[in-house]
Amino acid sequence: ALAASIVIFLAISYVLFLNFFPKADGPAAEDGNRLKIPAVLHDYDPSPESALFEIVVEKGKTSFIDGKEADTLGYNGTYLGPVIRLRRGEKVEMNVANELPEATTVHWHGLIVDGEDDGGPHHGIQPGERWAPVFTVDQSAATLWYHPHLMGNTSDQVYFGLAGLIYIDDEVSDSLGLPDEYGVDDIPLIVQDRSFNSDGTLAYRVNMMGVIPGDTLLVNGGIGPFYEVTAERLRMRILNGSNSENFTFALSDGSSFHMIASDGGLLEEPYETDEVMLAPGERAEIVADFKGKGGKTLQLVTGNSNVLELRIGSDLKKNGAVPERLAEVGEPEAQTGLNVRHFELQSMGISGTINGKSFDMDRIDEELRLNESEVWVIRNPVGMMQSGGHPFHVHGVQFRILSRNGREPGPEESGYKDTVFVNAGEEVRILIRFRKIGVFMYHCHILEHEDNGMMGQILVE
Ligand code: C2O
Ligand code: CU
Ligand code: CU
Repeated sequence: ALAASIVIFLAISYVLFLNFFPKADGPAAEDGNRLKIPAVLHDYDPSPESALFEIVVEKGKTSFIDGKEADTLGYNGTYLGPVIRLRRGEKVEMNVANELPEATTVHWHGLIVDGEDDGGPHHGIQPGERWAPVFTVDQSAATLWYHPHLMGNTSDQVYFGLAGLIYIDDEVSDSLGLPDEYGVDDIPLIVQDRSFNSDGTLAYRVNMMGVIPGDTLLVNGGIGPFYEVTAERLRMRILNGSNSENFTFALSDGSSFHMIASDGGLLEEPYETDEVMLAPGERAEIVADFKGKGGKTLQLVTGNSNVLELRIGSDLKKNGAVPERLAEVGEPEAQTGLNVRHFELQSMGISGTINGKSFDMDRIDEELRLNESEVWVIRNPVGMMQSGGHPFHVHGVQFRILSRNGREPGPEESGYKDTVFVNAGEEVRILIRFRKIGVFMYHCHILEHEDNGMMGQILVE
């Protein structure tokens, strides 16, 4: 009887074990399933002081599942877009052509530019038309991104493929010796949850109660890809490009890594951790050290799902150590007498409000002065109909987090941010100062919430 119960106990444990550690979403990583590295967008301007970029927004067909095709949208391609590399101080002309049969906009998420160049809902580009904003890069090295922002259509245009990364470099990032060989030891990872129909097409599923999370993770548009690590240290620039899902990234062997940058750029010093949570719209740069792990295979995971298989080569090249100090960020100044503004987030299913108001393109909700610091208090009260968190994002600015529920923010939130996750019942205070004029959006970065009212406009002059 004892032997029998031991056998039963082991069998049950084994089944539980399998359930707690399910296999990766989608097909297993095979040789043909190498991580796709987006192209770097060509700069047509030969001068190092200026740049001219051509972006075509187009429809296409993409094969996510072998032998099957899906209708998708892309920038200069069929799904996602190239990385736009900018330098601080550079004068940039973006030439965007809309070849879709519907209107779109291109918003530079995290870029500090005047409202008229920001690509928000007021800058619709009709089918067959162009939009050509010109601006000067006026901020520190960072990993930003771009995506459509047409009122009511952002969530589906992003879902079907419109998103890409923007990298800014500056003298500080040049001088640190961090891994910076694009596609080799410095790789972009755009992570998105998606669902597919049986014919291989993308299934965008929402109902009145909210967004139905995808059952498959895409990384740079591929399912369960692998990456061959050839150097000791790997810098991963991760964007949570999902419409509504949060991810908590970790390495499958539980080892720690260094987070070196948040939304707005480098942290003051690297933060050693074994996980990093990103809400939709947020970015983090992490550097993992694989020294001594040659020949092993690890996974970058989120929860129980594999994101990226890391095949560590046996002969790793030495490369960029993470320095003890990264950038001059400083403490957010505790000034007194600042104007305080309140934002109350509320949602019900896929729609929501800020301060009880639903978005109106013809209404300015807040007005503030250029270059004047303010404290914003963002609250997400627990209500009858809602329990979820909201990633609160502001255009045209990078802010600092003063406190979360009355406590100092953790190291991962100590740098510049343009999106902050406010969980149910939480209150986050931020220090914000606009350096550019115009009309800017603030909204929940759950794209369905954004499309369905949870957005407001601020006029800075
Ligand atoms: Cu990333 Cu208003 O958006
Ligand atoms: Cu934005
Ligand atoms: Cu929301």
